[in-house]
Amino acid sequence: MKTKSWKPPLKKAPTRRPRKGLKTLAIDIGGTGLKASVLDSEGGMLTERVRVETPPHCSPKLMVKTLAALVAPLPAADRVSVGFPGVVRRGVVVTAHNLGTEAWKGFELDAALTRALGKPVRVLNDADVQGLGAIEGRGVEVVITLGTGLGSSIFEDGRLSTHLELAHHPFRGGETYEEQLGNKALEKAGKRKWRERVFKAITALRTLTTFDHLYIGGGNARLLPAKLPKDVSAVSNELGMRGGIWLWRERRPGSNDIFDKL
Ligand code: BGC
Repeated sequence: MKTKSWKPPLKKAPTRRPRKGLKTLAIDIGGTGLKASVLDSEGGMLTERVRVETPPHCSPKLMVKTLAALVAPLPAADRVSVGFPGVVRRGVVVTAHNLGTEAWKGFELDAALTRALGKPVRVLNDADVQGLGAIEGRGVEVVITLGTGLGSSIFEDGRLSTHLELAHHPFRGGETYEEQLGNKALEKAGKRKWRERVFKAITALRTLTTFDHLYIGGGNARLLPAKLPKDVSAVSNELGMRGGIWLWRERRPGSNDIFDKL
């Protein structure tokens, strides 16, 4: 029998009238898809999200070329924010589990994209960017993303904490969080078992971080049951795209007020 897929009430990105000020090109590099949109100065999306499949075994060079072609039809922006599916330090790739760390390690992604797009570029881990778009900025907020890989980020009063690679940390039965909850695991175990595992992960994360709120994003968040614990919400990928604005802005601790970093 086919399992009915539930649609949780996703927290959606509010659509706004375009604001004056700097525009940000937001790019999300995923293991399966590459997405981009242009944001106004408050993070409102000025264009529909454009998307192409991530080329298989995508090398850094091919990635830069593919991204340049993807964003070419979009309106001009003043700066570029990029979410990358791995560890990134000061714009340089450290790991890229789903793209291939061997090919990517040490690649200066921010510099290469600055050259290709002719604008200042900031790069951060994809789940950190998604989290910046999803959180409220109060208390301990944890974000996980369920897609090809498993992304995670932690915030306290809106400030991003040190990036933890929860994906590759032991979870259950000798397997990591990503091995139990990533796309491959979903395909192998089926939706019912996968959902049970997500609930076990929620419990583990509650014990580990005593979060005030947990947000679950990524393409597979839509497969979660509609009824989630009170302190857990599913968030849309579009909301994650809006996180790109926060690479250039900061929250005042404990509030959602923002100010430009530059
Ligand atoms: C990577 C993380 C990334 C996640 C989602 C994992 O395999 O190690 O850094 O955030 O996938 O793309």
